[in-house]
Amino acid sequence: MPDRYDLPAGFRWGAATAAYQIEGAVAEDGRGPSVWDTFTARPGAIRDGHTGAVACDHYHRYPEDIALMKGLGLDGYRFSIAWSRIQPVGSGPVNPAGLAFYDRLADALLDAGITPLPTLFHWDLPQALEDEGGWLDRDTAYRFAEYAAIVADRLGDRIPAWITLNEPFVHTVFGYAMGVHAPGRTLMFEALPAAHHQLLGHGLAASVLHDRGLEVMLSNNLTPVEPASPSAADTAAAQAYDTLHNRLFTDPVLLGRYPDLSALGVPDDIYGAVRPGDLDLIHAPGLDGLGVNYYNPTRVAAPTDPVLPFDLVDIPDAPHTAFGWPVVPDALRRLLLGLRDTYGTALPPVTITENGCSVAESTAPDQPRIDYLATHLDALAQAVAEGVDVRGYYTWSLLDNFEWAEGLFSQRFGLVHVDFETQKRTPRASYAWYRDLIAAHRARRPPVGDHGGGGTPVTSG
Ligand code: FCB
Repeated sequence: MPDRYDLPAGFRWGAATAAYQIEGAVAEDGRGPSVWDTFTARPGAIRDGHTGAVACDHYHRYPEDIALMKGLGLDGYRFSIAWSRIQPVGSGPVNPAGLAFYDRLADALLDAGITPLPTLFHWDLPQALEDEGGWLDRDTAYRFAEYAAIVADRLGDRIPAWITLNEPFVHTVFGYAMGVHAPGRTLMFEALPAAHHQLLGHGLAASVLHDRGLEVMLSNNLTPVEPASPSAADTAAAQAYDTLHNRLFTDPVLLGRYPDLSALGVPDDIYGAVRPGDLDLIHAPGLDGLGVNYYNPTRVAAPTDPVLPFDLVDIPDAPHTAFGWPVVPDALRRLLLGLRDTYGTALPPVTITENGCSVAESTAPDQPRIDYLATHLDALAQAVAEGVDVRGYYTWSLLDNFEWAEGLFSQRFGLVHVDFETQKRTPRASYAWYRDLIAAHRARRPPVGDHGGGGTPVTSG
């Protein structure tokens, strides 16, 4: 069986973070408020009342964090840009100090031999845009493309590939449908115009990036969906959930059409949001790579109450992370094969842009995280051996960070422990493990050109 050491030569190793989760410095150098500043101030919204006001203080400590990345031997670092640092009110004047921060970050990464992989939107919409309707307002898509142009004009000379959106599914459902994330709206299915407008924003920004010769990716949270039983009712519920979680956010971009939304009870034009020509704007720019954020599969049963067309149920036979998420590494292999089967030649090369697990602070030697990463990378290598083109892996996360509704302390995803009182960084056992894996993989599969031979086989025979 192929394993992680068999991943192809040139496979890119990385780690991921996001602006609001690590930067802190929310009121510095002209940054405007984002929906997360507003939402975290709402009593009861976040566990223990935590906020990202300081988080990992990465805004000031980025040189130390880049040194940690360099110590891992990373090829790439995925981070996100805070829109409200660039345009404090989401449109109009540019804040030079905000742009200068990402300029310094990019240069410091490049000096360390690490390719920056920025995400333009990881959920922190400028509050001023939310006040006008946020992603429920079509104009936000056009503002997003303008912001993309500003950032690309400044950094595109040094950064070749860009991610437009992070997980529009999670942002729509948690932020606009259920209200457990910012902006805290509880619209249920009527949140879906926010999904369409994010996808439209993706398409418009993708054109802006392509016009500047840059590569474009979209990072979707994808989950293989399995029915709780072979019954027709459970199977139909699983299909409805798959449509909502996976296909709604991927079909428009790769195929230029929405999946059939009737099982969700959602009109084809998504409550009037979809206008003639929109799907072309979303699809025509094309995608140079699909970013896949994978954590766990989802088991679905027929609904027990009529509000939703499905019930999400546990997978009791699997181990669970500290978050309570089932650990099923082979589901990553199945997910990747499923993408190839569903999209065929419309599927661009895949990059895993997030994968990892939270481990309880008390779990001493960090073994659950090492096991999670090792088994998922083996499953990934098996999918590659079965013919799926996967180019890289960015683990979530480099550092413990502000885990949204869960606050700072409860869900620790980092290869590096962060003491949020002192800001002391302490690499965990998984840090050393990942470093050694990267080095061993490179030794076994030297990047083509390094040893003069070229033609390194993609997988072992
Ligand atoms: C993903 C988010 C990321 C992080 C991980 C644990 O859904 O993109 O910011 O919170 O989950």
